[in-house]
Amino acid sequence: MDSIPTLELVTHGVAKGGDAVARDSEGRVVFVDGALPDERVLVEITETKKGFARGRVLEVLEPSAHRVDPLCAEVNNGCGGCDMQIATVDHQRDLKVKVVTDALERIGKIPTDQLPTLSTVTLPESGYRTNVRCVVVNARPGFRSRGSHDSVIVDGCDVAHPLIQDLLGSAGSKSAKFDGCTEVTLRVGAATGDRMVIASPNAKYLSVPDDVIVVGADELAEGKRAWIHEEVAGRTWRISAGSFFQTRPDGAQALVDEVRKSIGVLPSDARAFDLYGGVGLFAGTVFADDTRVIMVEQNESSVADARINLADLDTTIVRSKVETWSPRRADVVVADPARQGLGRNAVSRIAETDAPVVVLVSCDAASLARDAGLLARKGYQLDTVTLVDLFPMTSHTETVSRFTVS
Ligand SMILES: C[S@@+](CC[C@H](N)C(=O)[O-])C[C@H]1O[C@@H](n2cnc3c(N)ncnc32)[C@H](O)[C@@H]1O
Repeated sequence: MDSIPTLELVTHGVAKGGDAVARDSEGRVVFVDGALPDERVLVEITETKKGFARGRVLEVLEPSAHRVDPLCAEVNNGCGGCDMQIATVDHQRDLKVKVVTDALERIGKIPTDQLPTLSTVTLPESGYRTNVRCVVVNARPGFRSRGSHDSVIVDGCDVAHPLIQDLLGSAGSKSAKFDGCTEVTLRVGAATGDRMVIASPNAKYLSVPDDVIVVGADELAEGKRAWIHEEVAGRTWRISAGSFFQTRPDGAQALVDEVRKSIGVLPSDARAFDLYGGVGLFAGTVFADDTRVIMVEQNESSVADARINLADLDTTIVRSKVETWSPRRADVVVADPARQGLGRNAVSRIAETDAPVVVLVSCDAASLARDAGLLARKGYQLDTVTLVDLFPMTSHTETVSRFTVS
């Protein structure tokens, strides 16, 4: 039988995704799952590629001063949901700042002396998620285990909002079971108390408490609509099963505050684009009354919600892909793309607006860095970056960046 290749390594850095970075005796980079920077660890090599390898910690020989025992029992059971619970929350944030800064330098090619110092916005680290996707095994909800496609059935989830905790716990009880499901998405409105379960492949056999709105993926595919409501920034938001909304309402509020700050003061009768507008969160909150706001969003469900959510405002809602929309001159562009970021075509559309200010909300450090590089080639200089720590206990980064014409 082949023995498992193991190495003793000293880690020195952190990579996107939360893995620590080390070098083996031949100088090859090894990404180490379960380690923090500045640790001596025994590592099982799980994957070897031409220029690098991946491994996971078998034993921590000399721990980082920032290492702690995970708060959530499910992490020790193998749950892969929160990959940063092994570090103090402050250190998690420091590591995320480093990941973003490194990416901007390495991928975005922003010279070190032109890199703004990142500011951070902190938010509570438990009970925050109002949207959780679970795998289901034998009618019980769970999460993918760390580094594999196996599932870990959970009795709770520390980062889930109490309204979701209740559904996770109750799923194992007599009154609520996710029978017949392979996957469920649980969405709640923290302020309204609304709860919804989206069940795959269908909701035929599932039973949940009476207040919970239930819809099957099969019904959604046939055009059925189901939604909850949430309150953020003094407005009520209809959020349909097929629409994006930020994973936590206090995080949505923090993003609204940061985006508004980054926009600054616009001339009267300014024109603003809110690209990748979702259900209208920024279009409905961050602009002055006399600004003409045009929101662009491709998703049909989100556009339908936005038309309801922004009905009292004079916002123009355009259903289109950003890449194929026809830009006009603008005073500011706000863009909040999905994980893959803007890319070359969307950056070209933005540049065609001649907007002197672009505010980019980004949920991926590598996409942010690539987009910062693309914007720099169109004459936009990176002024400010704020890490809004929407996802404590995980390595996910969320940033609000302001670019101005250089
Ligand atoms: C990260 S969400 C942001 C939504 C909104 N800004 C918010 O904060 O709630 C990204 C949105 O972009 C939309 N989207 C994804 N790709 C798009 C594209 N190519 N063109 C236009 N919208 C797109 C998605 O449907 C989603 O609503």
